[in-house]
Amino acid sequence: MAGRKLLLENVHIPGIETYDVYRKNGGYASVEKALKKMTPEEVVEEVKKSGLRGRGGAGFPTGMKWSFLAKPEGVPRYLVCNADESEPGTFKDRYLMEKIPHLLIEGMITSSYALGANVSYIYIRGEFMYILHILEKAIAEARANGMLGKNIMGSGYDLELVVAPGGGAYICGEETALLESLEGKRGNPRMKPPFPAVKGLWGCPTVVNNVETIAAVVPIVNHGGEDYAKIGIERSTGTKLISASGNLVRPGVYEIEMGVSVEEFIYGDDYCQGIANGKRMKACIPGGSSVPILPAHLVTKTAAGENRLMTYESLADGGFASGSMLGSGGFIVFDEDQCIVKNTYTFARFYAHESCGQCSPCREGTGWMEKVLHRLDHGHGTIEDISLLEEINKKIEGNTICPLGDAAAWPVAAAIRHFREEFEWHVTHAAEAQTRNYGLIQPRVEEIKTL
Ligand SMILES: Cc1cc2nc3c(=O)[nH]c(=O)nc-3n(C[C@H](O)[C@H](O)[C@H](O)COP(=O)(O)O)c2cc1C
Ligand code: SF4
Repeated sequence: MAGRKLLLENVHIPGIETYDVYRKNGGYASVEKALKKMTPEEVVEEVKKSGLRGRGGAGFPTGMKWSFLAKPEGVPRYLVCNADESEPGTFKDRYLMEKIPHLLIEGMITSSYALGANVSYIYIRGEFMYILHILEKAIAEARANGMLGKNIMGSGYDLELVVAPGGGAYICGEETALLESLEGKRGNPRMKPPFPAVKGLWGCPTVVNNVETIAAVVPIVNHGGEDYAKIGIERSTGTKLISASGNLVRPGVYEIEMGVSVEEFIYGDDYCQGIANGKRMKACIPGGSSVPILPAHLVTKTAAGENRLMTYESLADGGFASGSMLGSGGFIVFDEDQCIVKNTYTFARFYAHESCGQCSPCREGTGWMEKVLHRLDHGHGTIEDISLLEEINKKIEGNTICPLGDAAAWPVAAAIRHFREEFEWHVTHAAEAQTRNYGLIQPRVEEIKTL
């Protein structure tokens, strides 16, 4: 059975993208409550109690992040919403902003109040220009109705909200690259420390949060942090937006209660309704292209035979040997006809293209992996190439300025770990791989022992 919805509950109401309809359906109640009845510290406290963890990928506790924000006298503080959403397989923020833009604006006002920010930014992926216009229209409506600008709802609190188009690169989603880009520079990640909470936008204390994280502050303030924390399991509280794609009967954006089983999510009537065209599942990437791929037998069950759940903990169960990560919730399912080598090559190509080039292990390593995977995919590889990929991986992992290096290395390592036979097949069946139509180079499901 589908669970409680906190973010997308009203998404299908006609006209919900307008201020009037959004307000009539309970919109901006969190602003009213926070600004009129709560201190900023009390709002932070509710977010801490909720157990909310960042929805941008790393899952860092939001309340804790907010409490790290430095508050030197006379220095402005900023809240920056990360709406860059460029991770392959992830499209939930785009959906939320397009369908119910006032939810993000409401979350921005309530969160900015909690953090003591008087100017806040939504940094939106440059390719989402049409959504930028949707947001700007909604911001104008909010301002016309006294929700932005000076003395919001007579509370004495002032806030300006600015939407800024992104630089058009995946790396601009990394929070410090994002800040560089917002300052008008090339989006290169910064060395950390100092962290943005101490030295962020224009050298001032800054919180960077994902779209969904900020939207989740609305139900947390409306219903209370404890109520929010009742949903979910362990340290995975509340609801989560999942972008489901690949060979599914019903792909799409789902709001799930944390803790629903992966089995139910893939096969349940309220969710993805199984694998398309009556095929079998071969693999799944549960958290966006930068997390490890899981072979079918480890998708719905852990290595210990427990039911795998849609939580940060359960998806990571087994570590990188037999687990993966919830990441940004980009849930990509592969059926038995999909080629893991080809898919790994495609992602490697993406990461090589998106490396900013500042550190050599990432710049050189991602390009090298792309070349090796290209020859394996096209039937020109050798058995040694497989161990070469593993070696390159080890040299990248943990040796870079930002996590893009790891994001490029982990999926390749996991693909080889779980589908080594398929990589070997591309070497042992090289003649077939070279002569067959590109795109159809793949072993039959029966030929892969690890499935
Ligand atoms: C290469 C790279 C790309 C990223 N892209 C995004 C993104 O598009 N959106 C996002 O919210 N976080 C992205 N992140 C994570 C951010 O650096 C940051 O952790 C996040 O915005 C913090 O928000 P949260 O605490 O609400 O999750 C990316 C990280 C890396 C390393
Ligand atoms: S890891 Fe890659 S993307 Fe990140 S700073 Fe280094 S070169 Fe740039």
